[in-house]
Amino acid sequence: MSDSKPTQIFHHEGTVTRDDRKTLLKQTGATIWFTGLSGSGKSTLAAALEQVLIQHGHAAYRLDGDNIRFGLNATPKILTDTRGATEATANRFGLTFAAEDREENIRRIGEVAKLFADAGLFALTSFISPYRKDRDAARKIHAENKTGAIPFLEVFVNTPIDTCEQRDPKGLYKRARAAVAGGKGMGFTGVDDPYEAPLNPELTFDAATQSVQDGVAMILNYLQEKKLIV
Ligand code: PPS
Repeated sequence: MSDSKPTQIFHHEGTVTRDDRKTLLKQTGATIWFTGLSGSGKSTLAAALEQVLIQHGHAAYRLDGDNIRFGLNATPKILTDTRGATEATANRFGLTFAAEDREENIRRIGEVAKLFADAGLFALTSFISPYRKDRDAARKIHAENKTGAIPFLEVFVNTPIDTCEQRDPKGLYKRARAAVAGGKGMGFTGVDDPYEAPLNPELTFDAATQSVQDGVAMILNYLQEKKLIV
């Protein structure tokens, strides 16, 4: 049976509008999409922004690469180790760091962020999201949201790889270099897997030259200019 056309499922619209939610939360909702290499400072910046937004009374929630890969987008190993999944099930539903699984990771996160933002929250996503087409697809589904376009702001965390590698908070660059030297490689972003830098990000941050406070201030300024916060 072909499933190319989803003729058995239909959209269902409720009666609550985005304006109703805006009135309730006193904010429009938006996705702030951080992208950059491992160790570039995405999670730190997103966490600092989340804290300031919440302190100022704005509902915000962070979706973070490492955290999401323990749950919603668990790796096959997490599924076998913590859920008792069989290897076959884990390989079917778990997401690795292979290109097609990274794509699916970002597709799901794009959808989840859109739901959070549609509900009126600031969804702060910090994923490497290495492929331009996947980030662009996330932007597109926000623009084409059925109940009205949702603001989408891409923040390129453009910390040079040398700095990321010096920091190496999880020791993963070291492992990746050793794997490459051993002739096997591990498909680690920036070492032996590609990272496609954004061409037109709304904002750019470099943790080698800017403080986290600078980054937060820059994003808050942008949100104010765009009247997403008052
Ligand atoms: S992706 O590419 O967007 O699907 O990756 P993401 O979900 O953001 O997960 C990135 C974190 O996973 C760890 N990790 C790896 N990163 C890149 N390549 C490989 N092969 C890899 N294996 C594990 C790494 O700790 C990343 O965390 P951050 O916070 O980005 O440093």
